[in-house]
Amino acid sequence: MDFETVFASRTAAVDQALKQYLCAADDAPAEILEAMRYSVFAGGKRIRPVLLLAAYELFELDSAAAMPYACALEMIHTYSLIHDDLPAMDDSDLRRGRKTNHVVFGEAMAVLAGDALLNYAFETMLAAPFPNAKRALSAAAYIAKCSGICGMIGGQVLDIQSENKQISQAELRQLHEKKTGGLIKAAVCGGAILGGASQAQVTALELYACHLGLAFQIKDDILDVEGDSTALGKPTGGDREANKNTYVTLYGLDKAKELLLSHSKTAKDALAQFGKRAEFLCAMTDYLLHRNK
Ligand code: IPE
Ligand code: IPE
Ligand code: MG
Ligand code: MG
Ligand code: MG
Repeated sequence: MDFETVFASRTAAVDQALKQYLCAADDAPAEILEAMRYSVFAGGKRIRPVLLLAAYELFELDSAAAMPYACALEMIHTYSLIHDDLPAMDDSDLRRGRKTNHVVFGEAMAVLAGDALLNYAFETMLAAPFPNAKRALSAAAYIAKCSGICGMIGGQVLDIQSENKQISQAELRQLHEKKTGGLIKAAVCGGAILGGASQAQVTALELYACHLGLAFQIKDDILDVEGDSTALGKPTGGDREANKNTYVTLYGLDKAKELLLSHSKTAKDALAQFGKRAEFLCAMTDYLLHRNK
């Protein structure tokens, strides 16, 4: 099967599982569920859950048992987007081709929808019937760390603190490694830990995820300048308007494109030890390099 077919079938499986998680709600108020579902089912690319399942399949044949973790990660990612778009942060009114959560439901409900998705992600992971409790706990702890103050949230803090001032290349790299690399690392290594990867294998995959995460955010920075807002489903030009530090503002477009290529290549090289089993992750790296949304 070609990459696109496999990617589409994995995305469909993730969507179906997410639907089940987000319809069952006991006695939760209807409006919070509606706000959560609004952003989760707005058409995200689902690259983090798909990466998690693919990394799991480096070690196990059937990824069904990893699905709750894949869904949880997409919930964490979607919460990060809802909060990223708030007026107090990037103040954006378009996401995944729709009005942003706070525009539709109001700021208070958008804050709560983000909080709710984060919480529900951990509820989902901790209640999952995974056959190996030790791996399940390690993966959940790893995902928590990558999403938190040393990972995605830490990166968002650096991003906000560096608005309207010039930072160094090393600082920008650290910012990107955390704010976007955090959840990419959670996906790849969280999936690998669940699958029973050795420490050496996790280390190799951390290198892959680090460079993939950098490449992914460099591409996002480039698309903010060169991309098409309709295809992207979010506004362009926001980084310049908010005086953000990006690979484009610091290096210029040409050099940013060069760095995108070189981080993508370093990422793929880090997969060498997994041979043919890593074919999908290699193809995914190329897909993300060439994406226009
Ligand atoms: C957007 O992530 C936020 C960044 C880290 C750049 P995606 O580009 O994966 O967004 P969706 O999930 O497809 O909407
Ligand atoms: C956001 O980076 C990364 C997150 C942790 C949400 P951006 O602010 O560049 O993402 P977009 O461009 O709004 O999707
Ligand atoms: Mg942001
Ligand atoms: Mg943003
Ligand atoms: Mg961006």
